[in-house]
Amino acid sequence: MNILLLGSGGREHALAWKLAQSPELSAMWAAPGNPGIADHADCVALDLRDHAAVTAFCHKHAIDLVVIGPEAPLVEGLADSLRRAGFAVFGPSAAAARLEGSKGFTKDLCARAGIPTAAYVRAASQAEGLAALARFQAPFVLKADGLAAGKGVVIAETLAEAEGALGQLFAVRGAEVVIEEFLVGEEASFFALTDGETILPFGSAQDHKRVGDGDTGPNTGGMGAYSPARVLTPELESQVLREIVEPTVRAVAAAGSPYQGVLYAGLMLTAEGPKLIEYNVRFGDPECQVLMTRFAGDLAALLRACAEGRLASAETPRFIEDTAVTVVLAAEGYPGPPRIGGPIDLGDAEAGGAKVFQAGTRREGDALVASGGRVLAVTALGPGVGEAQAAAYRAVEAIRFPDGFCRRDIGAREVARERARGRD
Ligand code: AMP
Ligand code: GLY
Repeated sequence: MNILLLGSGGREHALAWKLAQSPELSAMWAAPGNPGIADHADCVALDLRDHAAVTAFCHKHAIDLVVIGPEAPLVEGLADSLRRAGFAVFGPSAAAARLEGSKGFTKDLCARAGIPTAAYVRAASQAEGLAALARFQAPFVLKADGLAAGKGVVIAETLAEAEGALGQLFAVRGAEVVIEEFLVGEEASFFALTDGETILPFGSAQDHKRVGDGDTGPNTGGMGAYSPARVLTPELESQVLREIVEPTVRAVAAAGSPYQGVLYAGLMLTAEGPKLIEYNVRFGDPECQVLMTRFAGDLAALLRACAEGRLASAETPRFIEDTAVTVVLAAEGYPGPPRIGGPIDLGDAEAGGAKVFQAGTRREGDALVASGGRVLAVTALGPGVGEAQAAAYRAVEAIRFPDGFCRRDIGAREVARERARGRD
């Protein structure tokens, strides 16, 4: 099998590492890739916005499967262009990718299909937004409609703050805003593969979005994660499948564009049951790193079956029982402008069995240097979350990256619960 993997982050390094373990793989290319991905694939410079160029590359190299990592090319319809040219693509069409690309689309779909989510109002103007705020109580949740790389959500503690935020959100031309009820509970992420018909659960995780220890400071793309999310019990997972994921997949298919790829449901586990916070139409980063570390099957075969509409006869995804923890090393300044160019020495970080996935890195001669905000995702397994956490931080200690920093409490909440269970 010839594979083209699109993207350049830690998520794509984890996918490349797992795809490379497939006995069916003949050759793999990645665009644009990164130095970590280059261990498993030939990295090529392709402009993902130039659909004709990506299609021509697939023809030239007889690509059997294209795996699209990030959301932007999906929302821009790259999967549609490649499918029209006859290629098997893991990743949804532009129409189906609106589940991530448009909050208003997703909220309306949930309302029609009776999917549990926060009550909401769509506002097309500042005046509508101000009127809508009166229907909610503090804290107010305001979301920009389009893709915002995690920066489109404002949680305002007071009405004055909410009104100010509304002004800023509508300063963008053509903006639309969703105002919604504030949900109380613990967050967890649930993943499912679907070809539009068959739905296969693909594990769970919890991430740490704030930059600072104890969930302080600004939001980031994710500073660490662990899998599985034990708060999502098998009973809750069945409920999420039945009440949230299945009706979504059916509704998207009924609208004429069956979903093919991974559907990532961001959930709030509320007192009334799990509710959908948001969908992503791709693997999470760094959730993918912990999922791939635990996935025990043939990833290339599974993603190809998904892309070719054959999930009904695919092997059920299996994960090892161990917990995986990943700690993100970011460059000083992140999530603001990061310090670029800092040298990185991975030392013997992988000696104890940990895996260092690379994200914002590049080669300068023989040296590895930082080239982005999130630079490395240091990932380790353990029989419990405490052991996995300790192993991940031991590996972090072995890395010399003077411009880098990480959170020191990835997995802490789960470690505390594990200790409490141990005392029972
Ligand atoms: P999103 O970009 O939609 O994932 O939102 C970012 C974060 O904002 C989520 O991970 C939640 O922590 C928080 N959030 C979003 N919507 C709500 C809500 N309705 N109630 C409470 N927290 C929310
Ligand atoms: N880590 C959150 C995301 O990938 O959206």
